[in-house]
Amino acid sequence: MQKNVLKSGLEISELGLGCMSLGTKKKHAQAIIERAIELGITYFDTADMYDKGINEKLVGEILKPYQNTHDIVIGTKVGNHLKDDGTTFWDPSKKHIKESVKQSLKNLGVDELDLYQLHGGTIDDPLDETISAFDELKKEGLIRAYGISSIRPNVINYYLEHSDIDTWMAQFNLIDNRPEDLIQAAHKKGVKVLARGPVFKGLLTASSNQVLDDKFEDGIFDYNYQDLGSTIASLKEIEHNLTALTFNYLRSQDVLGSIIAGASSVEQLEENVNNLNIDLDFNRIQAARKRVKDLHYTNHLN
Ligand SMILES: NC(=O)c1ccc[n+]([C@@H]2O[C@H](COP(=O)([O-])OP(=O)(O)OC[C@H]3O[C@@H](n4cnc5c(N)ncnc54)[C@H](OP(=O)(O)O)[C@@H]3O)[C@@H](O)[C@H]2O)c1
Repeated sequence: MQKNVLKSGLEISELGLGCMSLGTKKKHAQAIIERAIELGITYFDTADMYDKGINEKLVGEILKPYQNTHDIVIGTKVGNHLKDDGTTFWDPSKKHIKESVKQSLKNLGVDELDLYQLHGGTIDDPLDETISAFDELKKEGLIRAYGISSIRPNVINYYLEHSDIDTWMAQFNLIDNRPEDLIQAAHKKGVKVLARGPVFKGLLTASSNQVLDDKFEDGIFDYNYQDLGSTIASLKEIEHNLTALTFNYLRSQDVLGSIIAGASSVEQLEENVNNLNIDLDFNRIQAARKRVKDLHYTNHLN
């Protein structure tokens, strides 16, 4: 599988495994993660808050035997402060980040985190303090690189201008094409995009009709249910394989770091990897792009 190189030199597979919905049963998670490795995936996305730390522990434990032999890269996230009562609050303080890194290192069973991402944030955060926490962790050798996961243009732009981020994670697929608003800005800074939600919860897969009814009955963004249904049908006229279409669309962006797809079964994972290997002609990608709405970020612009 192709790998893309980040500013820091980290190499990540073009398709990454989103580990958020692997669940807490080791056998199930292990089957999916080990099949992902067999299929050439080397990038795994988790976060300290997924299943209250259990996800990090599971991912770390399962990947441990492959760390040295398979160039495994793990991305995790910080910023949601877990309280004793199980609830969380947003905490981008240096104190919290520098405390949390210790727990994530322990959970993942590593001496250094590969990619440490701020898990959201607002323009009212102490932005420079947060950035300096990540810079210090890099100098201290506790993280190799850092990034931000955000869909707020004002926050993303601040990080692009004032920090040394390697990556920006956002939901990005053929329907949710809002990240196009910031792609040139990211490209100029050498920042790569981690495209989460690439199959849009299954809408851009062979199960599109079922997923449309099950998960999009209220529509989404500028689409109502009917719009979405006719757009999906229209895309299928260009290419029946919607996953190949959305993956090729993402790959055609200059800034792609990795396509972070979640999978709740080995079969879904295998289908996604197979579809990554289908190369579509650029004219068809452009034609498909013209059949979806131009979406834009509308909040948190300044
Ligand atoms: N703010 C953040 O930083 C943030 C937020 C969200 C996600 N993430 C990361 O991004 C990853 C991916 O996000 P996501 O899970 O929302 O997006 P996604 O990859 O678009 O959706 C994953 C879901 O789509 C369905 N699916 C996947 N492959 C399929 C296939 N071949 N056929 C049919 N259905 C298929 C499955 O749903 P079913 O299980 O229902 O079948 C699967 O759980 C997460 O795991 C997480 O690591 C980060």
